[in-house]
Amino acid sequence: MWVSKVFCAVYLVTLVVCGASGRSASASIDSKNVRLLKDLQRHLAQPVIPDTYQGSEGNPRLIGARFRTRVDHFDPQNRDTFEFNYYSNDEFYQPGGPIYIFVGGNFQLTTYYIEHGLLYDTAARDHAWLFTNEHRYYGTSAPVENYSTENLRFLHTEQVLTDLIEWIDHLRNEVVRDPNAKVILMGVGYAGALATWARQRFPNIVDGAWGSGATVLASFDFQEHANDIGSIIRRFGGDECYNTLWVAFRTAQNLIDSERDETVTTLLNTCEPIDSGNLLDVETLFYHLKLAIQEAVFQGYNTTRIEQLCSSLVNKDEPTALSALAAWLDVYYANLPCNPFDFDANMEAGKVLQPGAAENVILGLRQTQYQACTEFGRFRTTDDDNQPFGSRVTMHFFLESCRALFGGWVTDAVIYDGVRLTNIHYGGQDPRSTNVLFTNNEFDPNRLLSITRYINPLSYAYVVPNEFISSEIYSINEQDSDELTTIKQNIQQYFTLWLSGGMTPL
Ligand SMILES: *[C@@H]1O[C@H](CO)[C@@H](O)[C@H](O)[C@H]1NC(C)=O
Ligand SMILES: *[C@@H]1O[C@H](CO)[C@@H](O)[C@H](O)[C@H]1NC(C)=O
Repeated sequence: MWVSKVFCAVYLVTLVVCGASGRSASASIDSKNVRLLKDLQRHLAQPVIPDTYQGSEGNPRLIGARFRTRVDHFDPQNRDTFEFNYYSNDEFYQPGGPIYIFVGGNFQLTTYYIEHGLLYDTAARDHAWLFTNEHRYYGTSAPVENYSTENLRFLHTEQVLTDLIEWIDHLRNEVVRDPNAKVILMGVGYAGALATWARQRFPNIVDGAWGSGATVLASFDFQEHANDIGSIIRRFGGDECYNTLWVAFRTAQNLIDSERDETVTTLLNTCEPIDSGNLLDVETLFYHLKLAIQEAVFQGYNTTRIEQLCSSLVNKDEPTALSALAAWLDVYYANLPCNPFDFDANMEAGKVLQPGAAENVILGLRQTQYQACTEFGRFRTTDDDNQPFGSRVTMHFFLESCRALFGGWVTDAVIYDGVRLTNIHYGGQDPRSTNVLFTNNEFDPNRLLSITRYINPLSYAYVVPNEFISSEIYSINEQDSDELTTIKQNIQQYFTLWLSGGMTPL
């Protein structure tokens, strides 16, 4: 089996994980592989940390701590508690100054954004005390002894918001020792949604919130995702590139339908032979083909990468569109002996229950998937006609993935209900919160799950033109476009407004 030689867990909704040896990889993944894992995880809306960042460089003001809180905030009969990690940086703080928090999401705690970036720069300007927390169940902040399905029941945004708010109350009273300190939250992706929801729910505690790419909308079938990537490919790679992909995907489908599975198995170098009778394996294969292209499009945050991808796809030396795609894939996954694009191989990494395993600590695979199956959905199907990735990745695939990982109780009604309730509870794209700022980027499909137009008191939404994910969370830089610079300055102006209680400072 390939899996015994090379640890290559290819995970359905998230990523390709490749390291060196051992299935229970916690002990065996070295730092190079950890970097690789993180690199491959970029298409999740997580804050990107520059490759060169090696952790804090001995800033004496940066201090780690843990906060103890209840495992279940809503059951007074359950007295269990746990601790989550957080970091504090008071290098700019002056008494009377505000608290700025970089909110933890579905990723390991990082101190990067309380030592770098626009939030950090704004803290310097405003003499703020910076904090960042680790979200329950992620990194090493496990509230339960293992991640069995039963034990994942405390992984819910309502619990997470309560963690956040009780911690902030503690920070104000016991750490900063200023019960009146203003509090502003900032988060990226899912954590951006949490930040804005915390303001919506607890305006008495949170004075303002900025979400970058904040994914506030839950949705059953996120078919617009494929469509948006198709448009980006067409724009920067040209019609010929788009058409090559379209033809390659359709050709593979037609070959499988006409039971010429072997041709596809050989061309795409799959570890297990493709069997046209096995719908889940066929769906997994197409899921991965799309994922590979999608990662290549967003890697490097640079349209030059898309031109490079397209120049190898529109390769005159290859006889067919499918063989051009296969040739590109061969180079792209050169480190894999074969491509593990079958369903069972894809489920393995998500079935690891030990909270300390790399799949869970570093990648948050099982936890992220659980949240998708129970609260957010957003399954990236290829149901839409207006995209180049064929038509084989359907809700069936994602539903069966949820069931394989968490059990047969997950039905489409369960997922649908989770999505519907999330949107009712938080208001989806119409949250009616005040003092919230939504920022997004033109080349980030997740902006479709965020808010790109928003008018409410002391609130606004910006979309940065011609930029990939998270361009606006970094320091103001002379290489920034004029639009990007203006948006960063406006973000800082909103902080000023929130601190002054809405009175424009003279
Ligand atoms: C997971 O933890 C629970 C207790 O929370 C225990 O009863 C169960 O046996 C554990 N399951 C596994 C597979 O370790
Ligand atoms: C994009 O990549 C090209 C070539 O690798 C490089 O010259 C250019 O500076 C990059 N652009 C940005 C915005 O990083």
